[in-house]
Amino acid sequence: MNTTLMWPGKQECVSMAERPTKKCLQPVQEYSVDWDRTQNVYIEGDNLDAMKILRRTHERRIKCIYIDPPYNTGKSLVYKDGFSVHSEWLNMIYPRLILARHLLSDDGAILISIDDNELHRLRLICDEVFGADHHVLTVVVNRASEIASSNTISKHEYMLIYCRDKDCFKVDGMKKYTLSRATVGNSGQTMPVIEFPKGLRCEGVEDGIYYETRRVPGSRENIENLGPIVVKDAKLAENVKLRARWRSSNDMRRFFANNCRPTPAKISGVIEEIYFRGDRFVPYIKKLTFEKIPSLYLENRRGSADLEKLGMGNWFPFPKSIAFLKRYLSYLDLADGEFVLDFFSGSAATAQAVMELNAEDGGMRRFIMIQLPEKLGPGSSAYQAGCRDICHIGQERIRRAAEKIKRETGAEIDYGFKVYRTAEIGAE
Ligand SMILES: C[S@@+](CC[C@H](N)C(=O)[O-])C[C@H]1O[C@@H](n2cnc3c(N)ncnc32)[C@H](O)[C@@H]1O
Repeated sequence: MNTTLMWPGKQECVSMAERPTKKCLQPVQEYSVDWDRTQNVYIEGDNLDAMKILRRTHERRIKCIYIDPPYNTGKSLVYKDGFSVHSEWLNMIYPRLILARHLLSDDGAILISIDDNELHRLRLICDEVFGADHHVLTVVVNRASEIASSNTISKHEYMLIYCRDKDCFKVDGMKKYTLSRATVGNSGQTMPVIEFPKGLRCEGVEDGIYYETRRVPGSRENIENLGPIVVKDAKLAENVKLRARWRSSNDMRRFFANNCRPTPAKISGVIEEIYFRGDRFVPYIKKLTFEKIPSLYLENRRGSADLEKLGMGNWFPFPKSIAFLKRYLSYLDLADGEFVLDFFSGSAATAQAVMELNAEDGGMRRFIMIQLPEKLGPGSSAYQAGCRDICHIGQERIRRAAEKIKRETGAEIDYGFKVYRTAEIGAE
């Protein structure tokens, strides 16, 4: 059953998203870095206009969208008569999600940070916009700064992940090997016979002929051999039939039938090797798997510490941690030239994460940051350092982060970005 969330103003959101904008992008060369060569983009303006303009060139071309929209604290939005604080927030986010979907590529995914206030409503509207079947995961994210009320302490927030098309979406987790014993101790397990082919490695066993494997009294994992086990040059010299409570008998049979070449396992991963360890002749299965997207992020890094390292402490409230962004962006299989878009980019933490990932793995991911030029108060640290609006903070961060990455890694990646401003067509 699909639950559709209704609220005042919803219908207007759809037309707001689909109505074309009369605006265009105006280049701002003086704030840009390496204009002639860079492929990264920074857009100053309302993301509603900016995304409509991007549709002209980037429809279905964005592989990854990360956003950290303003959370609904109930304070910052001005609301009309009859509209609740929730409907105002939904009216803000809904048309932008519709546009985001137009930009996502078929194999793309959107990651949305959110707190408890709007999680369940956001989930319902994302189900509607992206399709409930395309919900990939809801991640619980540890919060560096806890939020206390008179009765509670909130220690975590969330990140919703949706893909455009589950058949095309692919996670590019880091490779890892797992090693597991091929026997189990379950009493109910059957004890089939499997023939182990000659040539298997025998680790920690002397060369010789074993008429019986070593048994551990009472163990359900003892192995019975139906013929002698001949070990020569630390390898099995003859085929041998063994009976035991096997954990993955079909996987082992498939691997042997495939002449011990890498073979996909039934559940996940690829079996690369099966070998015996010790004189109990317990086979071990070495499997190559790929790290999957975890639903729990426990690290407790403060995003403001990343800004402090750039000499920008207190310039921006609650930036996201670079380690967190890098971790989740790295699961998405971004090929050279593919884009990460952040249309609520704030201090441009996402741009720094993209550059750091590129410096680490030699990738050529590109970023597009969008940010409203919200004015800064004269009392703020960023204002005193010369910034007049949030875009100045984001752009300065990208410049400083680029210098730091270049200095520390020497990597030759794209450190530049082209700045554009949304403007009425024909405006100077
Ligand atoms: C929670 S902050 C994002 C922080 C960012 N993730 C970081 O780590 O620095 C949300 C940002 O969205 C910006 N924003 C709000 N409405 C916007 C709009 N309509 N278009 C573009 N940016 C907007 C706000 O100015 C704010 O900087």
